[in-house]
Amino acid sequence: MKLNPFWTAAQVGAVLLFSGFFAAADPQTIRPGEIWPDDRGQHIQAHGGGVLKVGDTFYWFGEQRSRGLNPTYRYVSCYASTNLAQWTFRKNALQVYDPEHFHAGWILERPKVFYNAKTKKFVMYMHVDNESYQLARVGVATCDTVDGDYQWVKSFRPLGHESRDIGQFVDDDGTAYLIFEDRPFGFRIAKLSDDYLSVEKEMCLIPAHMEGGAVVHYQGLYYAIGSALTGWNPNPNKYATTKSLEGPWSEFKDIAPPDKNTYGSQSTMMVKVVGTKATTVIFMGDIWKPATQWDSRYLWMPLEIGDGKLSLPEPKPWTLDIVTGEAVIQN
Ligand code: GAL
Repeated sequence: MKLNPFWTAAQVGAVLLFSGFFAAADPQTIRPGEIWPDDRGQHIQAHGGGVLKVGDTFYWFGEQRSRGLNPTYRYVSCYASTNLAQWTFRKNALQVYDPEHFHAGWILERPKVFYNAKTKKFVMYMHVDNESYQLARVGVATCDTVDGDYQWVKSFRPLGHESRDIGQFVDDDGTAYLIFEDRPFGFRIAKLSDDYLSVEKEMCLIPAHMEGGAVVHYQGLYYAIGSALTGWNPNPNKYATTKSLEGPWSEFKDIAPPDKNTYGSQSTMMVKVVGTKATTVIFMGDIWKPATQWDSRYLWMPLEIGDGKLSLPEPKPWTLDIVTGEAVIQN
């Protein structure tokens, strides 16, 4: 902003105060850890979620954990945005009643939606389980439109392995992968079949016991993030890198000072925004509140990434220019 040299100090102060007020109220600011209101003014319910871009629109799918829902159903919410900051609630894209007799207290977590260009179907993957997390399966539901009513298809164990937390990774060449936590062995990354309805080929097993898996391909390197197995409690999330998904992967290193416990969050995805001037990789994390899950928060921050290093900056309000791809963290 240009300040007029003839203004008095009081006038300059008033202008700065005024613009500061609008900066603070700017709805396009992403505020990690705070209530994140949707277009209805309600806190976004898309926990353990994932983001899919269709045309110029981003869709955020996640666990719908509002109060007052039918406790025998499980719901996956869908929100839409063109700037990743302001989200419109579209609907609960999946509402399903115990589809395969998992019994009372059954679990549906970490939904992720892929678009299959061959079949023109949207394919949702999710972790499904019984109350004690012993089934360790993935569920699949499909839909002809991104924000329509998804229909349950089936559940299975990918490549015969246990699968609890899942993650989604679509490479720059469009190949779709499922990341899944296989408790006895580690962290697996596997390619989906042509129609995305099954998991076809294992790319690698990273023999590290990690969940909340997320992968991004950035400047010729793959970066994988995972958290330790501490349930809803935060822990120091770590990352490793490789030139090829088959590995070998580097050692895992902390993404933030370990005493910060990932600033109270757990990874769920990394979103790469390629703009006209810059590429920003966003860390999407959940700040879980297990006793009041509807109030669980989100920690989204632009990562410092490149040359084999990745770090999550201290959370602060920030803005993203969706056209240029530039992220600005406020001081
Ligand atoms: C976390 C996992 C969550 C949920 C939770 C249950 O580690 O990431 O998605 O499964 O455990 O305790």
